[in-house]
Amino acid sequence: MTLPIETERNHALLEWYAERGRTLPWRLTTDPYPVLVSEVMLQQTQVDRVVPHYERFLAAFPTVERLADADFADVARLWSGLGYNTRAKRLQETARIVAVTGWPKTADALAALPGVGPYTAAAVASFAFGERVAAVDTNLKRVLGRWHGEVLNGQALAAAAATDIADDAASWNQAMMDLGATLCRPRNPSCDECPVAAWCAGPDTYEPPRSQPRFEGSLRQLRGSLVRRLVAGAASIDELLPAAGFEDDLVEEALAGLIDDGLVVEDEDGYRLAD
Ligand code: ADE
Repeated sequence: MTLPIETERNHALLEWYAERGRTLPWRLTTDPYPVLVSEVMLQQTQVDRVVPHYERFLAAFPTVERLADADFADVARLWSGLGYNTRAKRLQETARIVAVTGWPKTADALAALPGVGPYTAAAVASFAFGERVAAVDTNLKRVLGRWHGEVLNGQALAAAAATDIADDAASWNQAMMDLGATLCRPRNPSCDECPVAAWCAGPDTYEPPRSQPRFEGSLRQLRGSLVRRLVAGAASIDELLPAAGFEDDLVEEALAGLIDDGLVVEDEDGYRLAD
């Protein structure tokens, strides 16, 4: 009897993952809290940079309740170096909700939490709660596109992921992340070492993502430096303006954005990080 190609391909993929998968600290647990912390950190930051931050963060805030009770300034301090501080703020908002209501246990329900998009919700639902749902990010999109020989988007991408996923969704998602990071790279993929090359249309199907805007001189860089300054304590506008090294109106725009995003509050003495 011949097996469906998804079954054969997944068998080879999961065998490869069991032998060659990376041992990463968040893979040693199914507790939703450290899983969520890792996935939020990994949203825009490389694995190597995340590992030490993840360990320090969990040492400081070992439970969702401890994160919920912390001052945001302490959270921002431990987030420093990961960038995109809004993620830290949203993560703490989520902790404050979960500490009261408990964990939502499905991807759909998790996606209602602050800062938890469809990808992160699916990752947590599969790793912590065993839901059979694919965590579709740009890596998974690239790998599935190559398997199928066409660039997949939207409904077609969701349908391919739902068909191709293994019963053990947690291992499948982790295996796909490793395949995408180590062999099925955007450029120069190592097809000769790939465990699933026999069931793949080949490496040519690939659409490079739009390039990232420049960081140097950007509003994002300015926001990061303002948050780092405020981690050290409250500051007046007269202290912030010269230190920022940007035009005054840009600094004011960045502060307004940080206030809108709930990271910073303004009071009679100036600006400080939110509680
Ligand atoms: N990137 C996003 N989630 C990841 C995970 N769980 N392991 C490795 N890289 C990831």
